[in-house]
Amino acid sequence: MRIVSGIQPTGNLHLGNYLGAIRNWVRMQDDVAETGGECFFFLADLHAISMPHTPAELTANTREMAAALLACGVDTTKSVLFNQAQVPAHSELQWLLNGTARMGWLNRMTQFKDKSGKNREGASVALFTYPVLQAADVLLYQATHVPVGDDQKQHLELARDIAQKFNNDFCAEDAPVFTLPEPFIPPEAARIMSLRDGTAKMSKSDPSEMSRVNLSDDADTVMKKVKKAKTDPEPLPSEEAGLEGRAEAKNLVAIYGALSGQSVAEVLGEYGGEGFGKFKPALGELLVETLRPISERFNELKQDTPELDRQLATGAAKARDAAADTLAKTYEALGLLR
Ligand code: TYM
Repeated sequence: MRIVSGIQPTGNLHLGNYLGAIRNWVRMQDDVAETGGECFFFLADLHAISMPHTPAELTANTREMAAALLACGVDTTKSVLFNQAQVPAHSELQWLLNGTARMGWLNRMTQFKDKSGKNREGASVALFTYPVLQAADVLLYQATHVPVGDDQKQHLELARDIAQKFNNDFCAEDAPVFTLPEPFIPPEAARIMSLRDGTAKMSKSDPSEMSRVNLSDDADTVMKKVKKAKTDPEPLPSEEAGLEGRAEAKNLVAIYGALSGQSVAEVLGEYGGEGFGKFKPALGELLVETLRPISERFNELKQDTPELDRQLATGAAKARDAAADTLAKTYEALGLLR
């Protein structure tokens, strides 16, 4: 197994990132180490320039996100951790795959529509071609499994389409250049929703800090955010079906279950009939207990910039080595003299 995944170093790591993706990175890293597979986890700093950004903030956020991932349990003795900008093969492969990706495929990407909004003409070209870079990110390492939240599923399908077309167009049937990657999406936390609006996903780009729990939030802040989370006046139902049409309640129960390792039915077995006055403090405490060791480690690790830079440089050297073979085969398959 080859596990590959990335996260943009913009803003804080939040609960959606953690439950939807990062927790699985760590679980898969530990499983894969036993079976001889490999994990590559990276900070998608090249993706971050597709939106307006401040250079000094991007540098600081890249280091902070590296510290956050280490605090969550990414272990550089088992996994390769790096930032894309130190591995030029990502940008190179993106260009090579631009010849295979189709305009029609990219036109269907919902993230471009969401992020460009009404200002399509003013959006950067990078925002449009972003999914091709994402395809390069995983195809470069022959990824077999990509642990992500549900919002990345469409990008992964595109990566498969690009890989398949490239293999068909340029490779002998018995010698494909690219492996088709499978998304790995946790059913219990595929899409964690905003605490202010149960129909919008929890996101770094939401202007309201109250909409998300950050992994660096202190205990009081976490409690305050959970207690102020939007809900309805009804008590929790005893059966799962009773959550239909109650997006906010459903989200809080899902978060509780994902944190405690219980199914939604089990959580409702315990809290069915109770009001949010009882459920919210219980959820807040569970969150605080889960986040406490992570935020303690994060606060410690983020102070040591030279150590973070050293870890990223070591990871990047390993990633450059691992990427070289696939990149060379891609140039060759396309008939490019080097
Ligand atoms: P990003 O930085 O937005 O998010 C990182 C990971 O967190 C997951 N996620 C969520 N999961 C559940 N509920 C949520 N509310 C939630 N919000 C975020 C995302 O699905 C993702 O797994 N384009 C990617 C980064 C990327 C990448 C890649 C990922 C670049 N290249 C190659 C995988 C493979 C992104 O912007 O994720």
